[in-house]
Amino acid sequence: MDGETVTQLGAKVDPSRQRIAVDGVPIEMEQPVVLALNKPVAYLSTVSDPMGRRTVMQLLPPIRERVYPVGRLDYDTSGLLLFTNDGELTQRLLHPSREIEKVYRASVRGIVDREIRRALVEGVELEDGLTAPAKVEVVRQSDREDGVAVVHLAIHEGRNRQVRRMLERLGLPVLRLKRIAFGPISLGHLKTGEWRPLTQEEWVALYQAAGMTAPPYRRPTMRRESERKESKRSSARHRGPRRG
Ligand code: URA
Repeated sequence: MDGETVTQLGAKVDPSRQRIAVDGVPIEMEQPVVLALNKPVAYLSTVSDPMGRRTVMQLLPPIRERVYPVGRLDYDTSGLLLFTNDGELTQRLLHPSREIEKVYRASVRGIVDREIRRALVEGVELEDGLTAPAKVEVVRQSDREDGVAVVHLAIHEGRNRQVRRMLERLGLPVLRLKRIAFGPISLGHLKTGEWRPLTQEEWVALYQAAGMTAPPYRRPTMRRESERKESKRSSARHRGPRRG
């Protein structure tokens, strides 16, 4: 490291400032990047699917960094999904102790009356226990039981299908669910299926929300055409010959 030989196991290095080489061969460390995607419904929030269903990875641009999703959105939920290659950032953003707020826009069948609003704010008893207090804003309301209401719900827990289960427990079937904010990052005008890098201000705010000092701001690096071709060839080699 920086010309010095390190023999100690677990020695810490800062790849943004230090040069690292093994047996004289420089190691290229990936610098952190973060990007935001507006996930459409009918995409899995996983890196790959053994059943061959569409995954959010197919919506990302050809970038050099190996990013993965920060948490999950259900198959039938759309909206803001962050991606990064920074493992510590991911871990901290998802850790319950940090209580990072996520905001969802839900269209529901029924009337979001005062009782329901109070229940959401006080906590809803689910199979896996009482939910933490949510913030609720009714954006649109109908005066008919079979009408559609739109609510914004801010929660900081990340239980499985939590928003759907909270609303359904209160007798409000969810017709559509979209995440519109994750901590300091808002979906804004990002179109469905499109991605964008974070702005520098968002980058700093996100690392701050995670309780970390932000590394130097970077945008993802696009792979060159030749690299893309090579990666296609290599994945074809790993897949083996096509059958059928
Ligand atoms: N709550 C849900 O019900 N679904 C999601 O995808 C995220 C939060």
